[in-house]
Amino acid sequence: MTSLPHSTMIKSIVTEESRLFFKQWLKSPMQIGTFAPISLKLAHLAASQLDVNNKTTVVEIGAGTGRLTRALLAQGVSTDKLAMVELDPKMSDFLKVSLQDLYQSKAQPRVIQGNAEELPRLIPTAWVGKVDYVVSAIPLMCLDETIRERIIQAALDVLNPVTGSIYHVTYSPVSPIKFMEGEILQKRVVSLWGNMPPGFVWRFTPKRYLHDLS
Ligand SMILES: C[S@@+](CC[C@H](N)C(=O)[O-])C[C@H]1O[C@@H](n2cnc3c(N)ncnc32)[C@H](O)[C@@H]1O
Repeated sequence: MTSLPHSTMIKSIVTEESRLFFKQWLKSPMQIGTFAPISLKLAHLAASQLDVNNKTTVVEIGAGTGRLTRALLAQGVSTDKLAMVELDPKMSDFLKVSLQDLYQSKAQPRVIQGNAEELPRLIPTAWVGKVDYVVSAIPLMCLDETIRERIIQAALDVLNPVTGSIYHVTYSPVSPIKFMEGEILQKRVVSLWGNMPPGFVWRFTPKRYLHDLS
């Protein structure tokens, strides 16, 4: 793959990722959540919500085969300021190899195979409490509320307590953490009704931080 031009390499990655995605979905439908990666349009719309400069630290959870990851990099997130967490070992291996091939000249991609519920111990210690954005495509709607809450709490634990926020990509027009409304401000910032299926991006901001500021 390394000798191919960038655009040809992307096409080859897209074909391979769709195959792997479908295969892993057949094995664990509730964990993967959907049989195909998110659309390019939804990925780029989600990434464009982030206010990015070369210091912006981003942790992506449920990175899968990297469709959203590539949109985040195209948006300007630096490879050395991005950590990707993915539960499925085959997908995380694919992500690591495909990013290495695509971005050979930049720093090694920080792909971490693990459970987002344990986020504070997965990412570099120095990042904990300083992350600007956690970006999630974990299929929260397929999970029990207790697990959803653990994942969101882990994301809150690594965020910058003043400016950090979570962006969550989903096919649900209803917030998957509506039951946490008391603690978290929840705003649907993207509604892509024409997507197949319709896609949405939610922004979650902890209310506790807003209280701390007032
Ligand atoms: C719908 S896919 C999203 C894939 C990808 N972000 C994209 O752009 O298409 C959801 C991914 O979340 C992963 N996932 C589910 N639960 C997870 C967890 N607790 N920790 C980390 N990843 C998880 C799944 O393995 C799957 O790859």
